[in-house]
This record gives sequence, C-alpha cells and structure tokens, in this order.
Amino acid sequence: MDNARILVIDDEIGICEGIRRALAPQGLSVDIATSGAEGMQKIQSGGYDLTLLDIMMPGVSGIDLIAEIHRHDPEIVCIIITGYATVELAVQAIKQGAYDFLTKPFSVDDLSLAVNHGLERRRLSLEARRLQAIEAEARRLNEEKARLEELDKAKRQFIRLVTHEMQAPVAAIQNYLQLILDGYVPPENQPEIITKCIARAQEEMDLIADLLELGQLQVLAKPVKPVPVHLEELLVTVMDNFREQAARKNLRLDLNLAPDLPPVMGAPERFKSVWTNLISNAVKYTPPGGAVTVSLRVEAGNIIGVVSDTGIGIPAGEQAHLFSEFFRATNAKELDLPGTGLGLAIVRQIIAAAGGKISVESESGRGARFIFSLPAHFQTESQ
Ligand SMILES: Nc1ncnc2c1ncn2[C@@H]1O[C@H](COP(=O)(O)OP(=O)(O)OP(=O)(O)O)[C@@H](O)[C@H]1O
Ligand SMILES: [Mg+2]
Repeated sequence: MDNARILVIDDEIGICEGIRRALAPQGLSVDIATSGAEGMQKIQSGGYDLTLLDIMMPGVSGIDLIAEIHRHDPEIVCIIITGYATVELAVQAIKQGAYDFLTKPFSVDDLSLAVNHGLERRRLSLEARRLQAIEAEARRLNEEKARLEELDKAKRQFIRLVTHEMQAPVAAIQNYLQLILDGYVPPENQPEIITKCIARAQEEMDLIADLLELGQLQVLAKPVKPVPVHLEELLVTVMDNFREQAARKNLRLDLNLAPDLPPVMGAPERFKSVWTNLISNAVKYTPPGGAVTVSLRVEAGNIIGVVSDTGIGIPAGEQAHLFSEFFRATNAKELDLPGTGLGLAIVRQIIAAAGGKISVESESGRGARFIFSLPAHFQTESQ
C-alpha cells in the first residue's frame, strides 16, 4: 500500500521508537501515541491505515480500543502487541476485530510480515468497499433508467392520445366543408352544418386550452410563487359564472361555507380552475331538476372542499381512472356532451402540487361527490 500511515499506541516509548525505526526503511510513516486517549485523538484526526496496539496500558486495554477505532473506521487494521499471548486472549481480541498478534519480544521480520499482511488486507477491504459502492451506483442508475423509460413510454402514449383527440374535430369540420363545397348541402341547410362546424371548432379550442393548462402544470415543475388564497372568495365568483347555465337546466346551486376559513397556499388562477372544472362537471352531468352543492370547511388543519351533485354518477368500476388524462366514463359518453376528459386530470395535478388530495364517491345514477383536502395556512396574511 503506497503512503501507508501507521499508528503505534503503547505506553512504553521504547517500543514505539523501536517500531518506528524498524518500519521507516520500508517507507512507512509511523506516528506514536503513548496513551489510549492520545491514540484515539490521533485516530479521530483521520488518515491511518493500521494501528499497533499495546494490550496493557494504564487505565485502558488495547482490546477495548479496537471497537472504538473501528467505530471511527471499520477498515483500520488493528494488530495487538502483547507480552503474554494466550489462546483465550487471542480469541477475545479477534472477537473484537483484531487482525493479528505480535508477542513481545518480536523481531523486525515478524513486525514487517504482520504489518505488510495487515496493509494488504486493508487494501483489499478498501477495494471491496469501492466495488460495492460502484455496484450500488450501477443499481441506482439502472433503476433510474427504468423509471425514465417508463416515463418516456407514458409520454409517447400521451402524445398518441392527444394527436388522435385533436384530429377528430378538424376531420369533422373538413368533411362538413367539403360537403358544402361539393354542393351536397342546399343553402337552407347550410347554417345547420356551419353551426356544427363552429361547435367542433369550439371543441378543438377547449382541448387546446386544456392541453396548454396541463402542459403548464407539468413542465413548470416549480410552481408560480405561492400566496395565501381564500378558496371561498374564488368559489363565489366561479359559482356566479354558472348561475345562468344552472338556471337554464333548472338546477339548484347551493353554497355551504364554514365561517372564518383560513387560506391555502398556491396560485389563485389554479384554484379557480379547480372550482371551474369541478362545478362545470357537476352542472354538466346533472340532469334538469337536480342540485349541485359546494361546501368548504376546516378539519384537522386542512381545508375540505366538497362538490356534490344529484346527477348521473360514475360507474364504480370506472372511478379509478377518473383522474387520468382523456378518461371519460361510459355513461357520460352516452350522453353525447362535449368534453375532453382533461378537466379532472388538471384538477388532480393542481391539488397535488399544493400538497393536497382529491377523491370521489359515487354510484352510477346516484350523483357524485368530489372531495378535496388542502393544508390550511393559519398565519395572518401580513406575515
Ligand atoms: N360530477 C360528475 N358526475 C358524473 N360524472 C363525472 C362528474 N365529473 C366527472 N365525471 C366523469 O369524469 C370524466 C372526466 O371528467 P373531466 O372533467 O376530466 O372531463 P370532461 O368533463 O369529460 O371534459 P373536460 O375536459 O371538458 O372537462 C367525465 O367525462 C365523466 O365521465
Ligand atoms: Mg370536465
């Protein structure tokens, strides 16, 4: 081992000096400590490969020091120096982690042999440790690679899905326009076809808006600077936006707010999007004559928001997919209402980014309850 550093811990200075003189010609650097305490101090300062330890020192046994040394660096090789080698002592020392023994008096050759074997052992242990670290790193990299491949696969799947979804409205508009151009639609029927075109174009615009929002949430991993947001204030505004639509469907819109609600931390426009998406779904998927109820309360340090309706509900078997991109339940698709299936995916991401959770309780045909929880921010807003 190149530049090996050795520490002799022995209260007999003569022995220490003798060892130093014997090992110096081999290019080994030898330091000396004449007490257990001094020895430990030197070990702590680091850099030693091997120690030669007197077994009998005033106040401390070399055997006890072994454990202490190994606590600092398990790979330091300890060789015991003893005046009376017995089997019992050997067993005890080896149990404590000693590598070898030297019995006084010993020759320079005995000393060199023990020290060189010890250093070789140290070299091998360090090499083994290095290889273990490399193996662990290789394992970690492999796992990381698998994770990235998984992510890449999900992304490609997502892009396939998006392109497919984006093609449909454009293809429909193209067909309608071609029909008109080819003279298949008499003038009196043209407004109807053009209205359809406009509806499909709107669908495309909605899809693009949703995709943009989703992209923003995913790409900008670091969110806009969070500020305290009063969900109830946003809720009142969003509810007002739906009053007309609800009235047209003869839906009751009820609001149930606990008093003195604390704010949550996040970006106001994102939480507004949560309300818009949840309430638009409730209004959209509830047949005329029903009711939509939104409530906010505090529970165990969290703000709990609930949007419930008396609408078509979600079949039990499909609820697990509800928050995935583009998923639309079979009963909703049958209704033939426009939708991209991105709203809830956006909601889930916003809530998760703000440290919250969202879930759904529903039965097919018996309404739906969307429940989210967000950590409340209890400090005053001036802070
Ligand atoms: N209140 C609800 N009642 C019944 N089904 C619901 C309700 N909210 C959501 N769903 C179901 O979850 C699906 C996904 O909702 P999401 O809001 O993500 O998409 P969408 O409403 O179809 O389209 P958009 O992206 O335009 O909002 C809906 O298609 C519907 O099947
Ligand atoms: Mg929706």
